[in-house]
Amino acid sequence: MSTFDLLILPGDGIGTEIMVEVNRIIEWFNKQDNSLTFNCEQDLVGGSAYDAHGVAITDAAMEKALKADAVIFGAVGGPKWDDVSYEARPEAGLLRLRKDLGLFANLRPAICYPALADSSSLKRELVEGLDMLIVRELTGGVYFGEPKEITDLGNGQKRAVDTQLYETYEIDRIARVAFDLAGKRGSLVHSAEKRNVMKSGVLWNEVVTNIHKESYPNIKLEHILADNCAMQLVRNPKQFDVIVTDNLFGDVLSDVAAMLTGSLGMLPSASLGAKDESGKAKAMYEPVHGSAPDIAGKGLANPIAMIASFAMALRYTCDLTAEADMVEKAIANVLDQGLRTGDIMQTGKQQVTTSDMGTAILNELEDLVA
Ligand code: IPM
Ligand code: MG
Repeated sequence: MSTFDLLILPGDGIGTEIMVEVNRIIEWFNKQDNSLTFNCEQDLVGGSAYDAHGVAITDAAMEKALKADAVIFGAVGGPKWDDVSYEARPEAGLLRLRKDLGLFANLRPAICYPALADSSSLKRELVEGLDMLIVRELTGGVYFGEPKEITDLGNGQKRAVDTQLYETYEIDRIARVAFDLAGKRGSLVHSAEKRNVMKSGVLWNEVVTNIHKESYPNIKLEHILADNCAMQLVRNPKQFDVIVTDNLFGDVLSDVAAMLTGSLGMLPSASLGAKDESGKAKAMYEPVHGSAPDIAGKGLANPIAMIASFAMALRYTCDLTAEADMVEKAIANVLDQGLRTGDIMQTGKQQVTTSDMGTAILNELEDLVA
């Protein structure tokens, strides 16, 4: 009998629509057989939390997140909250979750489903069969470094400061995550930084090099400047297996990688903390795409990245490899059948709504267990 407590945070915009489809899949698992149970609680985050409580996430919701086995997160933000104070802006809820749960390791796989190779903005031969993983440091760097402020200089000028800051242990632990994961895949790690202009890049390079030398003789390590990495991602993406990089470069590079797969609507992610004595790690699962306010409420959103994020929860939090494989297989089958949401639509395929896509994936799950 396995029971997992999930905190569901749909957030804003298309977050609420795509989460409906994940909730249906969770219910489906709950109905399957009584050895696996998900207990779900739902709460607000982002702009919707601001509207209800004046903050991007309440302390009560944070309490629930800290207690849950995993947080399933939709998306936050939208023009409605453009004028909200910086502290209460929707993204602050997401950043507090990452920081307070200690989710330093963000795993962003970019897999190009063969059925979608033509939706990529790159040529089919460049992306078909692509299977890479970006390991992004998520609780440090310029996102959180202090000082972080705007000072009025009093002469009509202001000065803005963000601080890119890394300590050895932060680089050490994310490098180990990357090397460990590479060991289960293609045994190749590219470490991306800007050591040619940034001190944090110099330290990053040094720490990754040392960890590699000491502990991972069987993994191949390549250092790459982050700008060159961006260029190589669009020139020849299949040269990569695992890319490990800091918070900001990881944010940018993972958007590039997402587009290689056909659509930002396809990319899931897992954010993991350190394992405790019992081997459990705090975790949050979220699609890489945002809240897409322009298409929200129209049934146009692609729920696949959200559903694939839940599959990552099955894999990493629940250790349910077969179930995770099954959800991923159901997604691949539905794409093979030619069903497409608008973002991945191609001529000759059938355009479906968010909920049609969810239903099709559920039907596939039914077939796969039959
Ligand atoms: C992401 C997003 C977030 C980030 C935003 C919403 C704060 O772009 O998860 O990639 O910058 O980390
Ligand atoms: Mg981003």
